[in-house]
Amino acid sequence: MMEKTFVMIKPDAVKRRLIGEIIQRFEKRGLQIVAMKMVDVDKELAKKHYAEHKDKPFFKDLIKYITSSPVVVLVLKGKNCISVVRKMVGATDPKEAESGTIRGDFALEIGRNIIHASDSPESAEREIKLFFKNSEIFEYNMPD
Ligand code: CMP
Repeated sequence: MMEKTFVMIKPDAVKRRLIGEIIQRFEKRGLQIVAMKMVDVDKELAKKHYAEHKDKPFFKDLIKYITSSPVVVLVLKGKNCISVVRKMVGATDPKEAESGTIRGDFALEIGRNIIHASDSPESAEREIKLFFKNSEIFEYNMPD
């Protein structure tokens, strides 16, 4: 099924100059970038994005981390891309993430896991809407 998913390249990946490396993996896999920008996430947006974690003990640190420098947000499009991108990203806790996944190759700590990707069609829709206007999401054909 053709799907769209939301990806955030988090502050530590931006600071470690990993933006290109991460985006290249998605392009090489054959996914289409239909939206992309760098944004400063303010506290309000961070709290909305991570609303489901508001009662967790790590919530305060999570908000501090995600607002600590600009992030890069993308909308990717492709067949079954929600689960495909989650697999490419790897387990939430980098110490459990397989080598070859983005977290498995570039991260060590759960509090600095370098990337976020939507985990379901519902969260993809919600997160895309939170970060992008309709006019920032593009429709264009790729060569076969
Ligand atoms: P993400 O995929 O963005 O979704 C929720 C985030 O919460 C997760 O990645 C981690 O960055 C963070 N997180 C989850 N569990 C913990 C934890 N135990 N300690 C710190 N951060 C966590």
